[in-house]
This record gives sequence, C-alpha cells and structure tokens, in this order.
Amino acid sequence: MVHFAVPEPGQNPGNENQVMQHPATIIIFGASGDLTRRKLIPSLFDLYRKKQLHPDSQIIGISRTPFSDQEFREKLKASFTEFYAHTYDAKTWDQFSNHISYRSGDVTSRDDYLSLDSSLSQQKRKPDNRLYYLSLDPRFYQTVTDILGETGMTGEEEGWRRVIIEKPYGSNLKTAVALTSAIQRSFFENQIYRIDHYLGKDTVQNILIFRFANAIFEPVWNRNYIDKVEISVSETLGVGTRGSYYDKSGILRDMFQNHLLQLLTFIAMEPPIAFEADALRDEKVKVLRTLRPILGSQAREQTVRGQYTSGIINGKEVPAYRGEQGVPADSQTETFGEIKVLIDNWRWKSVPFYLSSGKRMGQKSTEIRIQFKCPPHFLFSPQLQECLSPNILTLSIQPDEGIHIQFLTKVPGGGLETRPVNLDFHYEPAFGAILPDAYERLLLDALLGDASLFMRADEIELAWSWIDPILQAWQDGQGPELEFYPAGINGLLAGSQILHNPTLLANPG
Ligand code: BG6
Repeated sequence: MVHFAVPEPGQNPGNENQVMQHPATIIIFGASGDLTRRKLIPSLFDLYRKKQLHPDSQIIGISRTPFSDQEFREKLKASFTEFYAHTYDAKTWDQFSNHISYRSGDVTSRDDYLSLDSSLSQQKRKPDNRLYYLSLDPRFYQTVTDILGETGMTGEEEGWRRVIIEKPYGSNLKTAVALTSAIQRSFFENQIYRIDHYLGKDTVQNILIFRFANAIFEPVWNRNYIDKVEISVSETLGVGTRGSYYDKSGILRDMFQNHLLQLLTFIAMEPPIAFEADALRDEKVKVLRTLRPILGSQAREQTVRGQYTSGIINGKEVPAYRGEQGVPADSQTETFGEIKVLIDNWRWKSVPFYLSSGKRMGQKSTEIRIQFKCPPHFLFSPQLQECLSPNILTLSIQPDEGIHIQFLTKVPGGGLETRPVNLDFHYEPAFGAILPDAYERLLLDALLGDASLFMRADEIELAWSWIDPILQAWQDGQGPELEFYPAGINGLLAGSQILHNPTLLANPG
C-alpha cells in the first residue's frame, strides 16, 4: 500500500482560532430530548473546553417536564459520561455546567416567553445576544418563531438574535415554503440557520478543500474524465424508537432531500467566487437547478425502493422494519433508496450520479466514489476488451475518514502484469486527533454568525421540488416494486444491480 505524505501527527484539525468575542445566551427549546444530551451539550462542552465558547455565555434549556437546574445538569452529566467518557473531565464539566440552567415552560404559552425575556433583560447583559435552538417537534416551529416575533424577542436592538431550525424542514415543497414564510414573519433571512448536520462534518467540508485548494484534481473533475459518481450512506442502525416518525417520512425525506443532495452539490458545484455563505450557496443552488427531473414512470428505471426484513447485524438478530415499534405491520415505507441522477450542465452532461442510502445494511459507511474513465487504449493487455480496474477516487466521509485513490501498478518481476493499489490518507494518524462532532462546528458557526454551512430557503425548496415528483411516483405505483432485503445485507439489492447495469434485465443470470 502506498501512502500520502501527511502533516506531523498532533497537528490539530479543529478551528481553535475561531473564538467568540462576545458572550451569548443559547436557548434550547425541547431541551429534554435526545438531541440536547447526545449532541448539543457535548458539542458546547467541547467548545467551552477549547475556549472557543465565550466564558460568560449561558445555556438555558426549556421543556415541559419540570426539573430543577441541578436535576437537569445531572441528567446531562449522566448522558455525557456514558457517551463521551473519553472527553469527560470532572473539573471542567463542573465549571461548564454552572453555565447551564433550566426553565420548565410551554412553547405555546406567550407568558412563558415574556417571563424568559424579562429574566434575560434583568441580567442586563451587554450585548444581549441570543441563539434560539429549535430542537422540538416540527409542528411547533411556527408557533415558537411566531411568539418570539410577537413578544419582541427577535429584534436586534440589544444584541443579535438568531434561530437554528432542525430538520425535517417541511415534508414537501408546499410545507417547506409555508414554513419559510412563517419563520420570515419573525426573523430576517440572515438570522435563520437551517441545519443539515452533514455540512458540519469535517470530511464533508474537506470536499471543497480537496477540490479547490489543490490544482491537480479540478482539471479532471468533469465529464471528459469521470465515468460515474456514487454517493452512498449506509447505516447498520434501524429506525429504533422513531418508527412512527419514520413511517411517515421514509428514506427520501429522511436522507435524500437533505444529506445526499447536499453531498452531491459539494461534488458537482462550480468553484464559488469566495468561501462565504452566499457565494457558496449560489453555486449549490445552480447544481440543484440543473438536476434532471424524474417524472412519473421514469422512476421505474431510475430508482430503487427497499425495506428491511429481519436479519443479523453484528452477530445479533434484529427485527424487520414492520416489526419495529410504531410501524404498521403492512407498511410500504422505504428504508432503502437509490436514484440515478443526471445533471444537465456543461460539466456533468451524461455522467450518472448514483445516490443511495439504507438502514440496516451490512456495514456503516458514508462514501463518495468517483470512477474515472479508462485509458483509451490497453497498451499492457491488448487482449482485454474492457478495462477492469479504472482509477477510483474514494472520499470516505465516515467512519474510516480518509481519501483513497486506486490506480494500476506493475507487479514486480518479469512480464507486465498489473494490479490495482491504493494511495491512502486517513485523518486520525495524519492529525492525531478525533474529528470534532458536526454539531460543534455548526453551533460555533451560528454563534459567530457564519451561515456558510447552513441552508438557504431557496436550496431547500429546490431540493424538495426535485424530490416531490419521485415521492409522488412512488406513491402512485409508478416506481419500482418495493424490494424486501434482509437486515445486514452485504452487497447490492437486486434493484440496484439492474440500475447500475441495465443489461442484466435483458440477460438475467
Ligand atoms: C439523520 C436521519 O438526519 O441522519 C437519521 O434522520 C440518520 O435517520 C442520521 O440515522 C444519519 O446521520 P449520521 O451522521 O450518523 O450519518
């Protein structure tokens, strides 16, 4: 195996030089939920530990369940020590948790907002910066932003006011548009931070560095050299306790409309004029506008739908999707999807992008595989009719974060036998540190006012307007049959094999 020369180990991959200059209050609505204890608090703790969070910042959790400040902190600590034992340090945690308080409140009660506002005003913070984090049932997004607006809590006279909106952002184009106009009644667009946690992953941001900070890749990054692109997100997890949410959502809404299309825009976009929120988002929007629509029965040839049955994952038996809590026994919801996407622009004309994602697959892996065209002539094996080992660039997003390039090399000894080998780069040995969680980066960016890695309303709407017809076709029976695959499947679903190689349909077996 050949290795890239990499920077000295120990070099920190974080963004430690980005530090808040002024304190802020982070107000989490829906604070008793999983996201707060599993992601938000651990990320804020890490920012505090690295001194990127201003030391006078405070975190206020709001939910209906009554807790004292101490009980809330204990609950967070229990979860932190369970999931983040490697970064836990009692002294720092105690200092950090003094900045956390809790208020029991009803998100539909105006009085509760007024009381929060008056207690914050009494603190006489200067500036009174506030980040509202909506980590609750999406049915309440509009209620919260409306009341924040009506009670005067979004005006920026005393300090900035920003809102982070979690996914799902609508369930189709119509609901997404309605949500945007509801939020914009209370917040200006530049105060709204719509999250897609994939954009907070270092390995995803690195796609742009890889493409635009190096000179050697961009010249071949087009239809003249690239044969196809595969973007796949496989999970071993099932739907867990989210069955009733998931059954109404399915894989297209849960993963494609947001994460997979965002990855595609990073691979396919033109160089932005600057690394700055609007320039970047303008380029992503251009890609989304050039996705060729998949309409009606076209979904039969260009998409695959699957649902997991029972099976074995990591040596353990797991139930079928239809046996999961909250899922009807005859559910038709997809837990796997694949789409062959074409981009109608100069750079990508006729290059297929295969996007796939599934739950309960044989292994967890998110990767982008770029397959290059073969050399025009097989000088070393003229008897070959097709090239068996094209160059492949793999951007490994997780869990084995890195970059690999496959190329042919001569097997030592006589003759001209060739074999594919890899140039490998792995983050961990290269930088000697665990990559920060995506939420850490996104929270810090929102606190610093950098919206580059958040989605603009038009991006979300374009993504929905491309996904909606596919959802419609699937619902109308114009898509392919739902294929049942065993949990823990290794290899491709039958539908995917045909999607990648349609000649199989003509010559089965
Ligand atoms: C979430 C989806 O947005 O992303 C989940 O709702 C999915 O269903 C998760 O499991 C995957 O995120 P990651 O970071 O583990 O790839």
